[in-house]
Amino acid sequence: MKILIVGSGGREHAIAWSVAKSSKVDKIYCAPGNAGIAEFAECVEIGAMEFEKLAAFAKEKEIDLTIIGMDDPLVGGVVDVFEAEGLRVFGPRKNAAILEGSKAFSKDLMRKYNIPTAGYENFTDAEEALAYLENAKFPIVLKADGLALGKGVLICNTLEEAKEGVKSIMLDKQFGSAGNVMVVEEFMTGREVSVLSFVDGTTVKTMTSAQDHKRAKDGDQGLNTGGMGTFSPSPFYTKEIEEYCEKYIFQPTVDAMKAEGREFKGIIFFGLMLTEDGPKVLEYNARFGDPETQVVLPRMKSDIIEVMEACIDGTLDRINLEFEDNAAVCVVLASDGYPVKYDKGFEISGLDTFKEHDGYYCFHAGTKFADGKIVTNGGRVLGVTAEGADLKEARKNAYAATEWITFQNKYMRNDIGKAIDDKLASEGF
Ligand code: AMP
Ligand code: GLY
Repeated sequence: MKILIVGSGGREHAIAWSVAKSSKVDKIYCAPGNAGIAEFAECVEIGAMEFEKLAAFAKEKEIDLTIIGMDDPLVGGVVDVFEAEGLRVFGPRKNAAILEGSKAFSKDLMRKYNIPTAGYENFTDAEEALAYLENAKFPIVLKADGLALGKGVLICNTLEEAKEGVKSIMLDKQFGSAGNVMVVEEFMTGREVSVLSFVDGTTVKTMTSAQDHKRAKDGDQGLNTGGMGTFSPSPFYTKEIEEYCEKYIFQPTVDAMKAEGREFKGIIFFGLMLTEDGPKVLEYNARFGDPETQVVLPRMKSDIIEVMEACIDGTLDRINLEFEDNAAVCVVLASDGYPVKYDKGFEISGLDTFKEHDGYYCFHAGTKFADGKIVTNGGRVLGVTAEGADLKEARKNAYAATEWITFQNKYMRNDIGKAIDDKLASEGF
């Protein structure tokens, strides 16, 4: 088969790596790709939002399956464009990708179908939002409705902060039109878990769990980022919690989308918070998570192409989705200053060391070729992932592997997965 992957980050690198393992695949293209993806795929200079060009390319190269990695093209309707051209594509249509594209939509869906989530109100008018906040309980959470690179969520501790938040989201349009509608949500506490799943419209099969670390600095301090590191599985996501989520969250969400005439095929990423009142949905995404994918896919035993084809064909119930009984940790190597201001263009060395070690991966997020060298080209540069028999070992391995890489202004968190060690220690290990 010939495969086209759309996207250019660490997630797409992990997808490309997984696709390359499939015995069904002869050739991989990636648009636009990056310097790491180029090892597995021929990168083509077409942007992820250039739907017509992507479809024309898929036709010209007789691509058998296109995999959309990113949220923007999905929410923008790339799948509909491909389907109209008779092309086979993995991902939700526009009317289903709204599950991620509009937080107001997803909150209303959860309310209508009794799916556990934080209490909320949606607002289109800043004055009304401000009036509501006067009597609200703090802290409170403000969310721009649309896509905002994972940054459209403000946790406000006081009324003053919330007023500023309303101003920046709804009036100053800090997140552009994503802020035309704003969700005001009850603040929840608990541990976060990411559960990614394959969905064929009717059946949902979850992958192994993971946890992200969104803040820039150790101890969950600093600004929110796209994700500074992940581990999988999450020891906090117990069998009992999984069963609860299957019954009250995963299947009900897929059924709800179907009942709404928005059949969902592709990936649903359930962002969960394990609260005292049980697991609740923080957010849905309509694609693989990043960097969650970088710890989940290396542990997947099943052939990714077989699973994706089953999602498209509505035969996911026949797939036995399997994962290794081990663990993985990913530490993101970023450019110092991310997510605010950082320099790019520094040569990266040490990448080849990964080729000599099984169970170690270096997924590229922001890199490019320059004068025959690989240089930094983004805030998040690389995702260093290592497997291990258990989380403790995977964590040790991942941090050892971060030492193999050098580039100017290299920055990372030093406590990715530390919560695991703390949990294990508290349990006497
Ligand atoms: P989201 O993009 O909706 O996942 O939000 C980004 C991050 O904000 C989440 O990963 C949480 O850490 C935090 N967050 C979002 N909603 C809430 C909430 N209702 N209560 C507490 N924290 C939240
Ligand atoms: N890691 C969170 C996300 O992919 O949205």
